[in-house]
Amino acid sequence: MKLSVPGVRRISAIPGIPAISARVALPVGLALAGLVAATAPSATAAPVTSLRPVQSASAAVLAAPDIPLANVKAHLTQFSSIAAANGGNRAHGRAGYLASVNYVKGKLDAAGFTTTVQQFTSSGATGYNLIADWPGGDPNQVLMSGSHLDSVTSGAGINDNGSGSAAILETALAVSRAQLQPAKHLRFAWWGAEELGLVGSRYYVNNLPTADRAKISGYLNFDMIGSPNAGYFVYDDDPTIEQTFKDYYAGLGVSTEIETEGDGRSDHAPFKNVGVPVGGLFSGADYIKTAAQAQKWGGTSGQAFDRCYHSSCDSTANINDTALDRNSDAVAHAVWTLSAASVPPPTGTVYENLTDVTIPDNGAAVTSSVTVSGRTGGAPLVRVDVDIKHTWRGDVVIDLVGPSGTAYRLKNSSSSDSADNVIATYTVNTPTETANGVWRLRVQDVAAQDTGYINSWRLTF
Ligand code: TRP
Ligand code: ZN
Ligand code: CA
Repeated sequence: MKLSVPGVRRISAIPGIPAISARVALPVGLALAGLVAATAPSATAAPVTSLRPVQSASAAVLAAPDIPLANVKAHLTQFSSIAAANGGNRAHGRAGYLASVNYVKGKLDAAGFTTTVQQFTSSGATGYNLIADWPGGDPNQVLMSGSHLDSVTSGAGINDNGSGSAAILETALAVSRAQLQPAKHLRFAWWGAEELGLVGSRYYVNNLPTADRAKISGYLNFDMIGSPNAGYFVYDDDPTIEQTFKDYYAGLGVSTEIETEGDGRSDHAPFKNVGVPVGGLFSGADYIKTAAQAQKWGGTSGQAFDRCYHSSCDSTANINDTALDRNSDAVAHAVWTLSAASVPPPTGTVYENLTDVTIPDNGAAVTSSVTVSGRTGGAPLVRVDVDIKHTWRGDVVIDLVGPSGTAYRLKNSSSSDSADNVIATYTVNTPTETANGVWRLRVQDVAAQDTGYINSWRLTF
């Protein structure tokens, strides 16, 4: 999305600073280096590699990882198999429910969570909530994420609510893979008997001492986030939580709407009722997608967001992969952001490339590389300091590419981020990389008009 008049596009920039000031201010030598690189954008000059200790070690905000869709879907396949082996559902009081609890609990226990199974009784049957705590963080600031794990009796409940259950499970496993040390304490919950009227979550809230309620700084609810004819709905509750989700979607360029399909119809309601700030995502149930919604989100107007809502066809075929993928990443983004996850950036040896590389406008990706040698073993966590000059940084997508060829997304494009330059520090989990080899910063400008160049970058570990 671009405006065609150059002057207009700069309106939101800092007043008084001309659009091209960054390039004009450049020393001639650097500007020339940029021009030379522009003739062969991805063939970088020999990297200028210096070996010296990092001077400053201020904490860097850790970006949430991409949640692998394949992992989320693998959990859905397991829920489907569990239902198939237990009379076709995972409903409260049925064997398929407890089997679902045990599946999720097994994954969490193996990943280092402290799990608790809370029992309650509803309609003459025992129900179970599964609670998982990630060790550490401030016990007086708890960020909770929850999804109901039960289905209705008529089917396997893969969208409702295998989708939310799988997304928060995979986010929890990502927390473990990252060995995240957030400022807040993280807790995940899988609720029983939601389909009987929010029974499990209400039981949890009612049995939480009043003092502990006040320690829950936020509750995020995920119920139906892979609807086949998906919409992108954000709960309109706590403003900070709501904005966190909206920001994520704005970064993807996907518009969202406020969730209106029955406020209080899921497990956030008991939390909201006692004053806990709540929020969440929803991709739609039995309401009908309008023409305007189909226009902006795709899918079929005049049809329900989920035609299999509460029926036997809520199977693994009843999932929109794009919606599930985006929403799963949004869960992780919210957990990372709202828990104020930060890690001290790694210190160690600095490898840097000071050669300018021109980034072609709305063109192919360019790279700048550093070569690491003489190290042994892996590089589980690296720090990347980036200095990119650009007149509209929202155009810029940045990846770190490890020696294995795996890309780690540092920054997405954003049509609304009109600020200049990307001067940032990223802390990146790279658990499967070897230290030695060629590491690349890969930068692409994905929208016409504004341009820039890689000024320098450095890798530290
Ligand atoms: N499980 C919920 C229910 O059956 C699904 C639902 C409908 C929902 N509307 C919602 C979930 C709005 C969250 C928000 O009621
Ligand atoms: Zn549900
Ligand atoms: Ca551009």
